[in-house]
Amino acid sequence: MTRHLVFYGTFIHSLSLDQLEIIEDGLIVITPDGVISNLVKSISKELVRQHLATLGLSEPQYEVRFLDRGQFLIPGFVDTHNHAPQWAQRGLGQSMHILDWLEEVTFPNEARFRDPEYARRIYASCIDGFLQQGITTASYYGSMHAEATKILGDLCLEKGQRAFVGKCNMNRNAPDYYRDATVESSLSETQDCIAHMRRIDPEGKLIKYVLTPRFAITCEDALLAGLGEIVRSNPDLPIQTHFNEAEQEMLFTKTLFPTFNNEVDLYKNFGLLTKRSILAHCCYVSEYELEHLKKLECGIAHCPISNMTVGGGFMAAPVREFLRRDIKVGLGTDSGGGFSSSILDAMRQALVASNAREVTSQGKDKGLSIDEIFYLATLGGARVCYLEEKIGNLLVGKEFDALLIDSKSSKPGVMTILEEHDDTKTVFSKFIMTGDDRNIKQVFVRGRQVKV
Ligand code: GUN
Ligand code: FE
Repeated sequence: MTRHLVFYGTFIHSLSLDQLEIIEDGLIVITPDGVISNLVKSISKELVRQHLATLGLSEPQYEVRFLDRGQFLIPGFVDTHNHAPQWAQRGLGQSMHILDWLEEVTFPNEARFRDPEYARRIYASCIDGFLQQGITTASYYGSMHAEATKILGDLCLEKGQRAFVGKCNMNRNAPDYYRDATVESSLSETQDCIAHMRRIDPEGKLIKYVLTPRFAITCEDALLAGLGEIVRSNPDLPIQTHFNEAEQEMLFTKTLFPTFNNEVDLYKNFGLLTKRSILAHCCYVSEYELEHLKKLECGIAHCPISNMTVGGGFMAAPVREFLRRDIKVGLGTDSGGGFSSSILDAMRQALVASNAREVTSQGKDKGLSIDEIFYLATLGGARVCYLEEKIGNLLVGKEFDALLIDSKSSKPGVMTILEEHDDTKTVFSKFIMTGDDRNIKQVFVRGRQVKV
């Protein structure tokens, strides 16, 4: 993009968990570098060009796009937990318990990524698929293969998706054909992947390496300690792992690490809990763990679909409790554990799960509202990824990661969610609860249009 991009119309974003801002007749200016440089809240259409002139912009330095009624801009969705090699296995092994599902479905599938050509094909389709769904930022687990993980980083950069990309560290409790040979090889391949991501995107504009100990069950103490060492010398590295997901997993973890009473103490001991840690699931969290997660500023990837379909958590995580304590929370599709690659689906399932939680908590944990699930999918996810300064809403100074939503459709079979009498909040609510990727007309990351 060489010109400033300007939109005129309706914009909707979260300023905080309980503050949804709807801007009507708004004007937003995006620089050729993809940064939001100006946001005006209510301006008549006739004054747009005049206002741009006051900013020192005249045609052809900009392109203005006027949005129709029923169209609006929202921030891009952030998927805080996603397994790229599971793209082709979504929906398989539903209702299995976690360790059985890994052994029978997932490890045989992920082992295929030893073949770089296979990885290239599936990862290209995966990234296109997620961009199609409006996921402008994803925190990806790769497979255990360094080569395939580098390919995943290359493809995210090429296709313009903002991404954290990590090779899974796993040197035990996985089949011989699918595990790191030694602690040393696992760590040196990790260093190699870190160097690769820095080479392809030196400033980390889009792509960052994320340390990815799959979970403690697949990592010997020495491997966790080695990863902790890497964090100490690279404190800016994000970290992700699975955390307190299911009873089967928690019990096995205890037998492997008998000196630790809980997973907070375990991962903290190895230096893996920082303000950049993204902990997936957290279905069962004690008072002690809640206090420490807050103090350590860790973020939680709430995966409400896979929590109910794979893993044996089968549990509505205590999201209201996390929010009450201002622990950072975002949403994860966790596909393939979850069956859907849509954050809209994750938002709806988060709402459903929270209603179940309201009942089981005897009303203590109030269900989530539409505004709150939207926050989790956007600004909440940005906070979890420690990217709040850059993305998450449409404020001046942030990078333009955004979706153009169109609630009308002329295609047969595609729902039109706009009625004459609907106000903007109504159309927004209908989109969140009933829209799909066909209503996501355009997708932007750092100002670049990326939906294919
Ligand atoms: N725990 C370890 N690996 C995985 C995985 O791939 N998916 C889920 N849901 N949990 C895990
Ligand atoms: Fe997962």
